[in-house]
Amino acid sequence: MPKQDRIDATLRAAIARGQRQPSPPKLAQALEYAVFPGGARVRPQLCLSISRACGDDAPALADAAAASLELIHCASLVHDDLPCFDDAHLRRGKPTVHAVYGEELAVLAGDALIVMAFEVLADAAPKGHMERLPALVTALAQMTGMPNGICAGQGWESEREVDLAAYHRAKTGALFEAATSMGAIAAGSDPEPWYDLGARIGEAYQIADDLRDTLQTEEELGKPVGQDAVHNRPNAVVELGVKGAMSRLGDTLSAAITSIPSCPGEAELIDLVRRQADRLSPVALASHTA
Ligand code: IPE
Ligand code: IPE
Ligand code: MG
Ligand code: MG
Repeated sequence: MPKQDRIDATLRAAIARGQRQPSPPKLAQALEYAVFPGGARVRPQLCLSISRACGDDAPALADAAAASLELIHCASLVHDDLPCFDDAHLRRGKPTVHAVYGEELAVLAGDALIVMAFEVLADAAPKGHMERLPALVTALAQMTGMPNGICAGQGWESEREVDLAAYHRAKTGALFEAATSMGAIAAGSDPEPWYDLGARIGEAYQIADDLRDTLQTEEELGKPVGQDAVHNRPNAVVELGVKGAMSRLGDTLSAAITSIPSCPGEAELIDLVRRQADRLSPVALASHTA
């Protein structure tokens, strides 16, 4: 089955379980609305690519790891869009969860998706390779919470002094590090050689998002633009300029490719990072630097 289908099937099953009786109907709908239709699903795809590179000896566990990452990511977007954070009205080309269901249900939907991510792992592991569960749970918790995860990243926005690299690494890089390391753990491999790749892809991803926030339109992105300036957030373009940010993006993606450990799936991984690089550095961005 193609990776995208594996991911969506696991996500559908998790959401359907969360919607079972006696679930409150509006919250049940909000869960589905937050996860489907998806965005690029880049974190779970990366996770499955690493699992495959490491032998993919437990595909169902890799699917669970991939889905758990996407559930955390979707939850982070629901919370990030709330009025108390970025106050965004559009996400993935449609009104944000709180715009449709209200703030209370958006907070609860995000909370429920975070908890569901851990439930998906706990449900899959006993069907084979239970011994891999603690490392998977630890990786996901560390990259979601404090002191290094998404919560920490969002927390930096409430500080007066912010280091751009630390902020990016926590708010975005952490989940990419979780994606590479959990792909390895799910396949019974040592995660250590994979952290660097996740961190570098995550850094590149956020630099590209900062460039898009400055250079592209709401119609092109399906989410509001100019948000970093509105909220006075640290941003790679503000710090480095467009050309500087483009050049940092290129360097970071090259470093990501260099950091891929030698493994049977190396060629496929290089191809994946190259394809992401093409997606992240569209002609639209390059033309603005001319
Ligand atoms: C958006 O992530 C938030 C960032 C960290 C830049 P994505 O660009 O992966 O969002 P979707 O999942 O494709 O919508
Ligand atoms: C996204 O940060 C990282 C999250 C933890 C959600 P941004 O606020 O920069 O991402 P977008 O631009 O809303 O997708
Ligand atoms: Mg934000
Ligand atoms: Mg935002």
